[in-house]
This record gives sequence, C-alpha cells and structure tokens, in this order.
Amino acid sequence: MENSKRTVTCGELTKADVGKKVVLNGWVSRTRDLGGLIFIRLRDRYGITQVMVGDNASDEVKKIAASLKSEYCIAVEGVVAARAEKDVNKDMATGEIEVEACDIEIFTTSQELPFSIEEVRQKDGTLVVANEDLRLKYRYLDLRREPMQHNIILRSAVTFATREFLTSKGFLEIETPTFIKSTPEGARDYLVPSRVHPGKFYSLPQSPQLYKQLLMVSGFDKYFQIARCYRDEDARGDRQPEFTQIDMEMSFTNREEVLDTTEELMRHIFKKTLNYELPVHFDRISWDDAFDLYGSDKPDLRFDMKMQDAAFMADLSDFNAFKAGAANADKNIERHKRSGLKALVVKNAADKYSRKHIEALEAVAKINHAKGLAWMKVDAEGKFEGGISKFFAGKEAEICSRLGAEKNDLLLFVSDEKWQTACVALGAVRKQLGKDLNLYNPKDEFHFAWIIDFPYFAWNEEENHWETEHHMFTLPQKKYWDTLESDPGSVKGDLYDLVLNGYELASGSMRINDPALQERIFEIVGYSRERAEKAFGFLVQAFKFGAPPHGGIAPGLDRLIMLMCHEESIHEVIAFPKNNLAMSPMDECPSAVDQSQLDDLHLKCTEVEK
Ligand code: AMO
Repeated sequence: MENSKRTVTCGELTKADVGKKVVLNGWVSRTRDLGGLIFIRLRDRYGITQVMVGDNASDEVKKIAASLKSEYCIAVEGVVAARAEKDVNKDMATGEIEVEACDIEIFTTSQELPFSIEEVRQKDGTLVVANEDLRLKYRYLDLRREPMQHNIILRSAVTFATREFLTSKGFLEIETPTFIKSTPEGARDYLVPSRVHPGKFYSLPQSPQLYKQLLMVSGFDKYFQIARCYRDEDARGDRQPEFTQIDMEMSFTNREEVLDTTEELMRHIFKKTLNYELPVHFDRISWDDAFDLYGSDKPDLRFDMKMQDAAFMADLSDFNAFKAGAANADKNIERHKRSGLKALVVKNAADKYSRKHIEALEAVAKINHAKGLAWMKVDAEGKFEGGISKFFAGKEAEICSRLGAEKNDLLLFVSDEKWQTACVALGAVRKQLGKDLNLYNPKDEFHFAWIIDFPYFAWNEEENHWETEHHMFTLPQKKYWDTLESDPGSVKGDLYDLVLNGYELASGSMRINDPALQERIFEIVGYSRERAEKAFGFLVQAFKFGAPPHGGIAPGLDRLIMLMCHEESIHEVIAFPKNNLAMSPMDECPSAVDQSQLDDLHLKCTEVEK
C-alpha cells in the first residue's frame, strides 16, 4: 500500500461518506469467509467498521484477507459503500456502511490469544470474562476489550472536566513531592531507602495533606492536584496500594464554600461526561443519624428503608435478648441517646424470605459482630409468625403501629449493648436486602450525600487512648473548644465525607491554623511535644508565620470512576492496577533485586519470599 496511514478511524464513517476512498488502521476483531466474499470487522478505540473483500480486490489482496486472524494489526484501503436497509449492522455505529477493500497491508500478526477480546456471552446471557490474574498478566490485551476502553476513556474525560472546572474557578494545579518524610498517619507508609543517607528513608505520600496546607500558608489560596497517593494497607475492591485523589484546598473559606465547590465540581463532571444532571445540593446527614438510620457512615441512599429504634419492645415481653439492647448500658448510647435495639421493616417481603434466606441474612449480621438476627413476619391476618413471634403474641397492633409494619412485612431486629454494633450489623443486613430485593430506585442512579458532624475523637480500646477520627489537622467545631480536654467524647469535628451509592467518595475538613490549638490536639491523642515536633514540627512551625484559615477535601478519582461506570472494583477503571496481593502479574512487581542494589542502599533482607 502506498500510504497506509489512516485517513479515518473505525468509528466515524456514515452514509454521508459513501463513495469516498479511505484508509483504515486497526485490529482484526473477527473475520467471516463466505467463499467469494470475506468480511472483516476492523476495530480501533473509536469503533468497528466492516470491511468487505470482494470483486474490487485483486487475488493477492483476497489471499491476504484469507490469511487474517484475530488481533492482526492491519491497514485497509477501500471505498465506502452503503449497506442495504435490511443489512444494516445494528450493533455498530458504522452499521449503515462497509468499506470495499482494494488493498490490505498487515502491519503485524498476532499470536493465539490467552482470552477473547470480543465479548463472549454464555447462553444465559452472562458475560464470560477470564480470571483476573490472567487479565492482569496480559493487561494490554485486556485493555483492548470494549468495556475497559470505555472505562479508561471516561476516566480521561473526568480528569479533563475536573481540570476544566477547577481552573475556571481560579484553582491552581500544583504538584507536591512524592518522596516525603514518613509521618505516623492512618495506613502504613511505603518507604524508599536513601542511597546517599544510609539508614534513612523517604516515604511515598499517603496523600498531599501536609503540603497542601503549606501551600495555603504560602498564599496560593486555591490549590488542586490530581494526586497519586500510596498506602500500604490490605487490598479490597475499592482500595489500591496506589490510587488517585482529586486533591483540593482553599484559604479564607468555610465549610459551606468547600461543600458548594465540591457539589459544583461533581455536577460539572457528571454533566460533561455522562450528560447526567445531579441535584444542585446533596442531602446532608449527621454522622449520628447515618449510623442510627442506615447503620453506616457511608449509607446507600438509592433506597429508603430506614432502621428504627425498637427499645419500646423490650417492655412488651420477656424476651431477654432485647433487654440488653434497650438498656442504655453503653456510654456511647448515652452519648447518642439512642438504644442498641434496632429494627428494620422489610415491606412485602414475608413471602419472599424463607428460613434459609433469613439465615443468610443472619450470617451477614454476625459477620458484623451481632449476636444474632431476630425476626418475625406479619401474616395475612396481621398476626406475627415465625422467629420470635411467640414472645410478642397479642402485641401486634402496638408494634405494627409504632414500626409502621403491615401484613406480609418481614421484621428484623438486632439487639446489642452497644448502639453502634447494633446499627452496623443491621445496616449490613439493610445493604444486603437492597441487593437481594433490588430495592434501588431506578431514577436515582447516583445518590450523593454529605455526612457531617463526625465525632472528632474515637476511643482506642486496645491501646486505651483517644485518637482522631480523621486526621490531627482537622478543626474541632468551635463550640467544643473549651471542653476538648474535659469531654473529648462529645467533641464534633468540622469534617465531612461525601458518599455516593454506599461508598465513601471523599473526605475533607476545615483545618487547624492556630499552633496552640494544634498542640492541644497532639496532647489529647497522647503525642508528646517531642514526638509531635519530630513528626510534624515543620507544619507547626509554618503555622507560626500567619497561617490563613483553610480547609479542603479529596474525592477518590478511582472510586468516582468505578461508580460512574457501575463497576464493583476499582481494578476495572485503572489501566495497570495491582491484584489483591498488591502484585502486578504482568511485570511480576514487586520483584527481587540484585545484591549490588541492596548494597548501594545499605539494606540487608532478613526474609525473602520464595
Ligand atoms: P482520605 O484518607 O479519606 O482523606 O482519602 C480521601 C479519598 O481517597 C480515596 N481513597 C482510596 N481510593 C482507593 N484506594 C485507597 N487505598 C484509598 N484510600 C482513600 C477515597 C477517600 O474518600 N488528606 C485527606 C483528604 C482531606 O482532608 O482533604 C485524605 O486523604 O475515595
């Protein structure tokens, strides 16, 4: 072929192009040989175009066409022809046309594939996808698959929309270092040994938190960064050892401005990339209510079904298990003035849940530390049946009226001395019911909400000391400043989480900018002056030079894309993720290194994985 460089992509030809001479480049997705005619589906990232090798082609070209196999990378020169109305390929955007080939050039051939790039469906419609390690071993091939192309392309569009929006609002994109001082924060650090300074280490940032605060001290009053973050923690579907945040910080601001800006950013991203309208403002739920009503600080609000307090039921019978939950035995309950006896009314589910199904729900409750899951059903006559019904015979009217239960409803209960344990366990059951019964409102595809008024401190029972719920630079709400030391358990922080469809999408807070207040916090969480000085001295020092009031937030980009793509794992939206063992099967990372490299770094391994 004289000039094999493409003149068009595989996704753009329409009837309007009929008669044009074009050159296409791409991968052979499928071929069909009908004797005299050969059809080739040619694919690139823009789409698929059908190529027909027939009368226009020489014998030489027909021979090349007959030799083509899946994933050969080729060029086709030909003329655009219309397909008859009845023959339009409806599964392709270019289905109205095909290209009649006059020449074909094979750029490169392909070996037999480890798995199919084409969508393969079983008879029942389920998609056949190779196991994850095989996909990750050949990730470059896996990324040729249409769903992966879609996800990665959307990801690029989202980062573009993010930059577009934040830049238009006056935010500056500033990079912060990836070799930083190791500070005792949240997860374990990834460490990088220094060659030049024996025995010393850089650490990879868990987030740019301290640097973005320092940038506020420097006067760059609106900062953002699409920032890589590194955390050595156990992998999960929504966690990776290296991940990306849309990291933001603002000066001379307040909580309302940060929340408004984040809402506007999300609205811009969803409108620009999915043409989806989000509401102007998202729901706001206090942390206490989130646990009390949904059993989680990241509730899935695509369905309503709230948990209810059922303490009144403890007085209606001798059922012992309910007594403990209803009694305010826990100091947490006192704090929240809520009991540890929680109920869920599952509408119209009595006949859908057999004993076996309920046992499966009970297993969910128990994994979440409940002692059990009590249940009963309201039968067609309005009487209780099954489970714990015998303890409440004759009390149907009162219980049903207070819980809003009706005929054919299923009632589920968790009772625990600890309010939060009961909430979390029944909340997990609620989440499972959402999935089992597909309770999601189809009109509510993306349900965002703010969780606000978090407790500032949490009591670490194992180590017997207070620690901060978010990080130590978060501002306690002003009304608690006088009682920080005397009543840490009651203090609420000026911090907020953004949740989407049951996931924590973002966390942020107003920050402390007063060194004296910062030192009080260090002291309450048991950081000696020396330890705080060693770890964070540079930040406290910076605050002594006129630190502005500031605050920020960091939405996780991977989780955002995962939810926008309706995927269940962030692996599906990262080009080259690690597997659940924090490894990359493709390049076999992490790997052993030469002894000389270790020597250079003054390192000796005491244990080596076989
Ligand atoms: P936080 O630690 O809550 O806050 O992280 C913010 C968001 O980052 C995402 N995220 C992750 N995504 C994938 N894999 C992980 N291992 C992972 N860890 C966190 C989540 C989470 O909501 N510096 C603060 C933010 C601030 O206060 O401004 C911070 O990092 O979506």
